[in-house]
Amino acid sequence: MPTIRTIRGRGGGDVPITMLTAYDAPTAAIVDEAGIDVILVGDSLANTVLGYASTVPVTLDEMVSHTAAVVRGVDEALVVGDMPFLSYGLDEAESIRHAGRMLKEAGAQAVKLECGPHTVDLTRRLVELGIPVMAHLGLTPQHVHQLGLSRQGTSQAAADEIRELARAHEDAGAFSLVLEHVPANLAAAVSDDLEIPTIGIGAGPHTDGQVLVLADVIGLEPNPAVFSTAFGDVRGEMARAVAGYRDAVVAGDYPAEEHTYVEEDLDLD
Ligand code: KIV
Repeated sequence: MPTIRTIRGRGGGDVPITMLTAYDAPTAAIVDEAGIDVILVGDSLANTVLGYASTVPVTLDEMVSHTAAVVRGVDEALVVGDMPFLSYGLDEAESIRHAGRMLKEAGAQAVKLECGPHTVDLTRRLVELGIPVMAHLGLTPQHVHQLGLSRQGTSQAAADEIRELARAHEDAGAFSLVLEHVPANLAAAVSDDLEIPTIGIGAGPHTDGQVLVLADVIGLEPNPAVFSTAFGDVRGEMARAVAGYRDAVVAGDYPAEEHTYVEEDLDLD
């Protein structure tokens, strides 16, 4: 069973860490049974499940509720709850209380923060208080209005800043670092710089682990991320199942005799 300590110890290891998002109990159970090490209840909940255009609108209450559902579905994997936009960073005490909800109410083992210079001290304080932190650098979708959703760390200055912030978050006590949509050579350099594991998404093969969004992996998302691969066709399978149900009802084939019972003793005149 993966723990914060065993995941932290896998920086530079031979077997890559596997991480995948999930947002509800039955799906989390499937992900868990497949042997995925870490389940991230990402704020991608906003666009993949709740129908928002970006991750900006999702609320802390929504994240706590979905994280709790995932925890109920999981036996083995480590569950990390993503802190949504503006639930942290405004005021230290409020940020700590909000992160604490992920552990106390939802039952997650750690929180993930989209990071910048403003999250170094907060990471240190959360870790001191017993709230493990997964840091996230590179493309941070909560900054969509400033950064868009394009590749990050492509200029020397931006790459240097990512390396510096990665070291600062490791020093502050983060147990792992997500690197999103950055050049593979930058991700390799950051992975060499750090002892904690890096977990890449669109960051090439040289990180200590990989993460993707579930809807992209199972083939449910109509507009998957450019760096993802669908390993199934759940959208097609769902469409076939729903059309099959509709056709059976229209044709009078469902419900059939085996789905139906009659209570002979009822007086219905
Ligand atoms: O919200 C999310 O799903 C994420 C992953 C893409 C890392 O942050």
